[in-house]
Amino acid sequence: MQALILAGGKGTRLRPLTVYTPKPIVPICNRPFLLYQVETLRRAGITDITLSLSYQPQKIEQQLGDGSDYGVKIRYTVEPQPMGTAGAYKYAEDLIREPTVVLNGDILTDLDLEAVISEHNQHRATATIVLTPVENPSAYGLVETEPDGRVRRFLEKPKAEEISVNTINAGTYVLDPRVLDMIPIGENYSFEYNLFPDLLRRNEPFFAHVPHREAYWLDIGTPARYLQANHDLLADRIHASRLTERRGRFEAQPGAEVDEASVIGSDCIIKSGAQVINSVLGQGCHVEEKARIENSVLWPHTRVSAGAFVADAIIGRGCHVGRSAQVLAGTVLGDKSSLTDYTQTGAGQ
Ligand code: GDD
Ligand code: MG
Repeated sequence: MQALILAGGKGTRLRPLTVYTPKPIVPICNRPFLLYQVETLRRAGITDITLSLSYQPQKIEQQLGDGSDYGVKIRYTVEPQPMGTAGAYKYAEDLIREPTVVLNGDILTDLDLEAVISEHNQHRATATIVLTPVENPSAYGLVETEPDGRVRRFLEKPKAEEISVNTINAGTYVLDPRVLDMIPIGENYSFEYNLFPDLLRRNEPFFAHVPHREAYWLDIGTPARYLQANHDLLADRIHASRLTERRGRFEAQPGAEVDEASVIGSDCIIKSGAQVINSVLGQGCHVEEKARIENSVLWPHTRVSAGAFVADAIIGRGCHVGRSAQVLAGTVLGDKSSLTDYTQTGAGQ
């Protein structure tokens, strides 16, 4: 069994974070996101992984290389222009003509993939799709099933009046290579809008997998959910992805406070009277006297000046937060942003 990770989207909903960093490698607790997926695959014994790229592919290749640092073999396909989710799978055909696990490249999960694969084999399915429950399916692909587990209906981004169940497409599939023959060559083609409805029309064995134990599942593709992913990892809520090391080598001056939950990258400096609570600091961040950072994520080389207060915010790489600034919930600063002293952003503004 091989794997294909769909990692070519533009990450528009995560802007400005994705202007210089493609979504598949935004850091979650200081590790590029895709490494969590690579880990999930490796745990299931899948080490032959193809990454399907389109947006800023060199940055992703630079980060992950041939995969040998992570105990897997990574190959890449780069589409000349985005081919759509199924088009991307077709485009990788030469590398993956065998049963393949296909993952959306923005899903953080501790799903038991081996269970999915064995169910797929038992059913002799053409395709198996993993389901997860969500409160509001409108941003996802709604999936209705039959009592025997077959998919009855697939409806991408349903309107409010079309929502009949709370189970959605978790962005994880096992596909038999015959699926490749149903996708046109060189066209933009979508699993969600084209191929899944096709499978149903053709009455192919298309099954849903419902995880037995409650699996953690989150699409990290919006700022709120990106922040949530970091918090869930800080709080050890992701069964299979425990943080092994929360601290690099950093300097906390006397009177600085860093709580146990926080993840602090190497070369950070936290000055006297500053507080870092339930937050992630990337490498080389500076937190100056009496600044307070809580429930926030700072990317590397960002400076928070004296007396500033940062709460429930995401701050990109190489930013400067001026003295006594208030950076509050909902704030997302792109790389190299600079906030003048006393600036106020976020909640209440
Ligand atoms: N290579 C490549 N080429 N990858 C693509 C392309 C493309 O043209 N278009 C999208 N992708 C990748 C994205 O990078 C992302 O990892 C994944 O495919 C899904 O795209 P999103 O843009 O994140 O889709 P979504 O979140 O709105 O909806 C999808 O995911 C939901 C679960 O999070 C759908 O699959 C829904 O049905 C599903 O419920
Ligand atoms: Mg998504």
